[in-house]
Formats: sequence, structure tokens, C-alpha cells
Amino acid sequence: MEQVVGWPDWPTDELGPRSVTILRLAGGVPAVVAVDNTTLGPAIGGVRMRAEVTPAEVVRLARGMTLKSAAVGLPNGGAKSGIAAPPGLPADRREALIRSFATCIAGITDYLPGPDMGTDETAMAWVHDEIGRAVGRPAALGGIPLDVLGATGYGLAVCAEVLQEHGLLRLDGARIAIQGFGAVGRHAALRLHQRGARVIAVSDIDGAVANPDGLDIPKLTDFCQDHSPAEFPGGAAIDRDDLLGTACDVLIPAAQPDVLDRVTAGQVRARIVLEGANIPATGAAEQALRDRGVLIVPDIIANAGGVICAAAESRGLTATQAFTDIAERLRTATTEWLGRVTAGATPRQAALDMATARLTTAAGYRRSF
Ligand SMILES: NC(=O)c1ccc[n+]([C@@H]2O[C@H](COP(=O)([O-])OP(=O)(O)OC[C@H]3O[C@@H](n4cnc5c(N)ncnc54)[C@H](O)[C@@H]3O)[C@@H](O)[C@H]2O)c1
Repeated sequence: MEQVVGWPDWPTDELGPRSVTILRLAGGVPAVVAVDNTTLGPAIGGVRMRAEVTPAEVVRLARGMTLKSAAVGLPNGGAKSGIAAPPGLPADRREALIRSFATCIAGITDYLPGPDMGTDETAMAWVHDEIGRAVGRPAALGGIPLDVLGATGYGLAVCAEVLQEHGLLRLDGARIAIQGFGAVGRHAALRLHQRGARVIAVSDIDGAVANPDGLDIPKLTDFCQDHSPAEFPGGAAIDRDDLLGTACDVLIPAAQPDVLDRVTAGQVRARIVLEGANIPATGAAEQALRDRGVLIVPDIIANAGGVICAAAESRGLTATQAFTDIAERLRTATTEWLGRVTAGATPRQAALDMATARLTTAAGYRRSF
């Protein structure tokens, strides 16, 4: 039977986390919910289902959500949760587990759960069914299925367009390499392909494919419904992790945290890194890349399309309105961010400064007695 096991005494700073709750779900599966900060409003954050997920990872990701929502001007705080179970569970077991998770978080009312790695809009429908609260729900339930529509991939393409408008990239013919071909990577590939870019390498957990002339992305997307990109006949299979060293204009890590560390950052041969995944690079990796003149668009700007879409759903907007909101917010945020970088801030610091300025202003309006 599920239960709330405890609230660990987690180290906090001036932003949070406000609460870290450890859960024991049906069948004894451990889970954790971190609500980092609610200064700007209810905290939105995905539910990650992955055998290796840890409370430390969830707490870090929750902070990322606080900063991301603030940086793009949303009326929301940041949270995240993790369920330590493998993604390939039998359907009935998976549903029972997600429903058990929902029951456990019923009392965490300032947390709005959404989809993340290992969960999808069906999972959010189950959560909503249990507690009347979730974003990224199926359209039939009045939701906006952000992963099906590719909100984050769209946002990455908007960011790339802003870089183009500032003379940092020419999308027509730009060589793109994408690590991870899930909800984020696949839609980023499609949107950039539509803008004339050449997606020359793509990987998933099982392998990678490359074609220096550009992969046929619509065909690859269909093919990957039931194959790994490595088997795609329209390119040559390469070693999965060699993708990071592809010579290209833009590298998009869109898979796991910390894939770029001091060592792997040394292999990168891209001019620009657009962080599709959350925390895909360690601090040391970001610094090493910066030292080599690589422009890194940090996750809290580049991949904010998903949370903008989730927040739009929570405000009752339609999918069309949500995508307009993604374009507007990411244009504004990327332009402001570039201005700060041009003025001398590091890419990460520029994004952090944008977020903390807004959080500080908002905190001034909150009751403090
Ligand atoms: N879905 C969103 O809207 C959204 C928004 C912001 C950030 N993110 C972040 O983006 C990342 C991807 O999310 P997603 O929703 O696309 O997940 P997903 O589960 O749909 O896809 C993940 C992809 O990464 C691949 N992968 C995993 N490990 C890999 C490895 N070592 N090498 C190469 N490929 C690997 C998987 O095979 C899969 O193709 C995560 O870090 C997530 O937190 C997602």
C-alpha cells in the first residue's frame, strides 16, 4: 500500500526547496516529490519514471523548473518528481503505479504534475482522474498533449531562429546533431528540418545514425516508431556516444542529465549547444565549452517550451494559443539572454540573473509576516 514515508531534512538556500517528500508507492516502489519554490505561483514539474532516478537528481531538476518558469515570465514555481521504476512495465502495473503516485501527492496541492521521461499524457490522465490536477493531459480531457505536439522541440527551433536573427547561425543548411530521439529530440529535428537545417546525426539509447548530407527526418521519425535510428537505411550507423563529437553547427543534447562532463565536452565539435535536455552538462563542461568559444544556450531558456505549454494548459488556453505563447516568450527570453551574454555575462549566469531578478521582484509582493 502506498504511503508518505517522510520529509527529509534537505539542505536549502534562499529559493528552496520548499518541501521534499519521500513516498512508498504500491508494491514498495520508492518515489520522491520536490517542490522547490512557489513564489511566482503553483509549481509545475514533470513526473520522471526511471529506475535510476534519485532524490538528489529530482531536487536539482526542481530547481531548474523554478528558474526556467521565472526566466520566461510564467506565473508558476518549480517542482519535479521521480518514480524509481523502469519504463517498460506491463500496462496494468504501470497504471497502478501512477495512480498510486497520484494518491500520494493529493495533499501536495501547490504541485501541478506533468509528463517527463518515462511518463506521457495517458499517465497525466490517470493522475488527473485520481486528484483532479495534472497538465500535459490528452486533448480529449481538455488538455494539451505537449509531447505529442512537440512543445519543447518547437521552442528549441524558436531559440535557433533568434540566434539566426542575431547573425549567430544560418538555419538554411545548418548541420545539426541530436542526442535522444524522444519527445524533445524528434520534434526539434522536425522543426529544424522544416526550417532548412540538415540534421546529420541522431541517437537514441540503442544507437545512432549519421548522414553528412542530412537525414530524411520525416522518414526517420516514422521509422523510429518501432526501430532504433541505428537501423535506419538512410544513413550509416555510428557508435551511440560518438554522436557528441559530430562536427556540426548545433549540438542538441536531448536525453539524460550530465551527458556532457569535462571529458565528453572535450569531444564536442559544435559551434552552438542548445540544451534540449534538463541539466545535460555539468558546470565544468559548460566552462570547458565556453573556453573553447562554444555558445551554450542553457536548458532554462532553450527547453522552456514544454513548461510554457503546460502553464498555458493550466490557464485554460488552447493548443494554438499555447504555441503562440511559446514563440512569444522564447523570443523575448532568448533576446534578453543574448543581450546579457553580449554585455559580458556567461551564458548560464545570464539566464540565472534573468530568473533571480524576477523571483526577487515577486518575493517583494509576497506576505512576509
Ligand atoms: N518532454 C519535454 O517537454 C521536456 C521539456 C524540457 C526538458 N525535457 C528534458 O529533455 C530530455 C528528454 O526528454 P523527452 O521528453 O524527450 O524524453 P523521452 O523519454 O521521450 O526521450 C528520451 C530519448 O533519449 C534517448 N536516450 C536515453 N539515453 C540516451 C543515451 N545515453 N544516448 C542517446 N540517447 C539516449 C532515449 O532512447 C529517447 O530517445 C530529458 O532530460 C527531459 O527532462 C523534456
